[in-house]
Amino acid sequence: MKSSAQKVFISTILFFLYFHLSTQDYVYETKYINVPIDHFNFVNNDTFKLRYLINDTYWNSDGPIFFYTGNEGDIEVFAQNTGFMWEIASEFEALVIFAEHR
Ligand SMILES: *[C@@H]1O[C@H](CO)[C@@H](O)[C@H](O)[C@H]1NC(C)=O
Ligand SMILES: *[C@@H]1O[C@H](CO)[C@@H](O)[C@H](O)[C@H]1NC(C)=O
Repeated sequence: MKSSAQKVFISTILFFLYFHLSTQDYVYETKYINVPIDHFNFVNNDTFKLRYLINDTYWNSDGPIFFYTGNEGDIEVFAQNTGFMWEIASEFEALVIFAEHR
């Protein structure tokens, strides 16, 4: 019988192996949008650049927008590992956007 530390170790290895093997090179443009630092403050209008990844190759302008709101990590890792959105984008003629979480 394996100890729980061994199980955690094996699970971690499998997780990274899965992530590594499932990584594909999805293609997108990297763009930035200026976003207010504070949406509720009229005294400070400072902005920051929010990064987003966009692919409009399949989009017909009446099609849906598949929008992935980023997690606590590099948005490119999520874009490269969220195959489902890419797989159905052509069928739905969708715009694909992955935006950073801040
Ligand atoms: C969108 O993805 C497709 C499939 O990977 C790719 O051929 C195309 O160049 C991409 N378009 C853009 C604008 O990056
Ligand atoms: C911020 O923008 C608002 C709306 O345009 C304006 O009324 C306000 O004076 C601006 N504040 C500063 C500090 O520039």
